[in-house]
Amino acid sequence: MIPNMHYADLKDSYLFYHIAQKTQAYRKAHPGTHLYRMGIGDVSLPLCDAVIRALHEAVDDQAKQDTFHGYMPECGAPFLREAIADHYQKRGVSLSSEEVFVSSGASDELGDLLDLFDRGGSALVIEPAYPAYVDANVMAGRRVVHLAAGEANGFLPGPDDSMEADIIYLCSPNNPTGAAFSRMQLQDWVAYANRKGAVILFDAAYEAFIEEADLPHSIFEIEGARTCAIEICSLSKTAGFTGTRLGYTIIPKELERGGLNLNAMWVRNRTTKTNGVSYIIQKGGAAVFTSEGQKQIQKTIGVYKRNAKVLMEALDQLGIWYCGGKNAPYIWMRCPNGMDSWAFFDYLLQEIQVVGTPGEGFGACGEGYFRFSTFGSPDDTREAARRLCALLRTV
Ligand code: MLT
Repeated sequence: MIPNMHYADLKDSYLFYHIAQKTQAYRKAHPGTHLYRMGIGDVSLPLCDAVIRALHEAVDDQAKQDTFHGYMPECGAPFLREAIADHYQKRGVSLSSEEVFVSSGASDELGDLLDLFDRGGSALVIEPAYPAYVDANVMAGRRVVHLAAGEANGFLPGPDDSMEADIIYLCSPNNPTGAAFSRMQLQDWVAYANRKGAVILFDAAYEAFIEEADLPHSIFEIEGARTCAIEICSLSKTAGFTGTRLGYTIIPKELERGGLNLNAMWVRNRTTKTNGVSYIIQKGGAAVFTSEGQKQIQKTIGVYKRNAKVLMEALDQLGIWYCGGKNAPYIWMRCPNGMDSWAFFDYLLQEIQVVGTPGEGFGACGEGYFRFSTFGSPDDTREAARRLCALLRTV
């Protein structure tokens, strides 16, 4: 047996797994100590009422002969595909429901979608980057080309014509930096992808956090995107589905490469490799797109936005440079006194029991920076901000 030798090219452990292990070790050494968790972007508030009601109703449906569902359509239940297409239409983006594929979440999908691309190809990743983009490509034996982002370009670099890749990952609002591309910046990326024959994998997982009116929520708001982009989205952060698992992917019918149609290829892939997402979860997901669901999720998002404000005020008081927090649930700060990001992680954990994410975990360009998630409970966030101020005032 010959294993997939590309695994030998990966870092020893995945970023969030590594953080969880370090945190667990601390807990073991300090039993009973409360930790302020602002590391992984996991939500802390429960699902909204509209979703819970729909989930209960769907469970009852499964108990009755007339309403029982077995296998679901592999690409998604028509009721959910239509609800998502209608949601886009309200924002001025026309999609057919057949361009919407229901998935069990964006992170699963980001790896699975690599089936559409040649193993000998390459992926352009803007660094710092969500580590799954890089790791999924390395596992598949694909080459990764890094485009550096930094304070000088607001962590939002434009395309570089000298770079060649067949897939381009764009995440906006960005994980980890919280920076969001403007319409014009995305227009440049779309033009570049069409010119190069590349495909943009647009990660829109944080679009619901956008506050500024003219920032695009979807790559399909940009002219020309239908011939060069796939959008991946998730209800994890939008509606608290991190543990419930539900997402969706949009592949326009016009998207073709090498004489093949990517929408048709994905239908072929899904009908072979999945039996769809469960009826119960899709019913819960459809409730998110009702007007009641939309109002309720906005309320929850408002709580996370207030957390962001609390943290931003603390950093302002300390005079520490940061970005994000406004259009995204992440705050990306410069580590104080040139500290490296893992040293800063250990320092915060040991001194004030605050867990964040070291920037280096998002690639070499993240060294010297640190990410806070704003998905924690308001009480914990306030206390963490207070501890941060007290500690960093002295360094
Ligand atoms: C993060 O913390 O970067 C995200 O929660 C990870 C994810 O969505 O898988």
